[in-house]
Amino acid sequence: MAGKTFLSGIQPTGRPHLGNYFGAIRQHIALQEEQGERFYFIADYHALTSSRDPAKLRENVRDVALTYLALGLDPERSALFRQSDVPEVTELTWMLLSVTGMGLLERAHSYKDKLAHGITPSAGLFVYPALMAADILAYDSTHVPVGKDQVQHLEMAQDMGGSFNAAYGQVFVRPEAMIPKSETLAKVPGLDGEKMSKSYGNDVWIFESGKPLKNAVGKIKTDSRPPEEPKDPASVLLFQFLELFLDASELEQWKERTRAGGAGAPGYGHMKLRLVEAIELHFADARKRREEYVKDPARVDAILARGAEIARARARATRDRALAACGLR
Ligand code: ADP
Ligand code: TRP
Repeated sequence: MAGKTFLSGIQPTGRPHLGNYFGAIRQHIALQEEQGERFYFIADYHALTSSRDPAKLRENVRDVALTYLALGLDPERSALFRQSDVPEVTELTWMLLSVTGMGLLERAHSYKDKLAHGITPSAGLFVYPALMAADILAYDSTHVPVGKDQVQHLEMAQDMGGSFNAAYGQVFVRPEAMIPKSETLAKVPGLDGEKMSKSYGNDVWIFESGKPLKNAVGKIKTDSRPPEEPKDPASVLLFQFLELFLDASELEQWKERTRAGGAGAPGYGHMKLRLVEAIELHFADARKRREEYVKDPARVDAILARGAEIARARARATRDRALAACGLR
């Protein structure tokens, strides 16, 4: 297999947030400058493990598509599609599950985290990593750009593909995870300082603007130390946000004044105002592009349909290879 194949997916479980942007979507778009093929999809089958509201799910799927397009996904260079438009993926899931030990799935951090958050698990949630492995292996993906929280799922995909290959010969390509180098990008904090996540309710929508954006930023956790008190910037959660939006020299000035303390040191309110301004500016063009796509749903549908066609052709070939290898053909 020549060349690189990039693949990633985002669950339509809510409006995409800053963590999704810095941890994943931004990389996906930037990879359009590289040689290779790109498959980016909306993981709607995965979302079914937590969704019970069909209208909401439809809306969320649309939102992920709009987000990618607004942020610069170019349908000529990347196939953008819905996971459920490629049913071969569910066939591959079964074949992979049949060579996967229960123990591997039981060790999944994300599953254990969900249990710890009090979620009553469905069987679908438990086998979620096998569906994700099928997503990855279906397209002969070589590179999978994701946030740090997905590393274990990637390792599980390697294991499952490896087990199948060990039993039946070389069918699946071994994928590698691509994780953002900077710690802040790989794990963007939420308003409360924990990992930003739709399921923890501590997230900020990428296209938030105006008053709602001010309100959201206002909720970033601070402490009661006065501005004059010299502080280590690493102890101030707000800096992890500023780091995402300010250029290096401006960021350093804010840090310097915070370290020094005294009359010239900025208060948290002041820093929050600057952050709001920087977020508004950062996404200004994307916000406009999003509005254009919102007004033209037929165009979005056509892009998704075309993406599905490209993805499906590839997944069908992989599915056929797997069926033949294990004796089902
Ligand atoms: P959520 O945890 O909000 O449900 P998803 O699981 O749908 O988000 O994540 C989609 C992509 O965004 C994945 O590649 C994931 O690694 C990345 N991602 C999610 N949250 C963060 C975060 N806080 N920091 C960095 N990347 C993130
Ligand atoms: N599990 C991923 C997440 O929650 C979404 C996802 C599904 C995915 N299938 C994938 C990511 C395949 C990368 C590759 O973020």
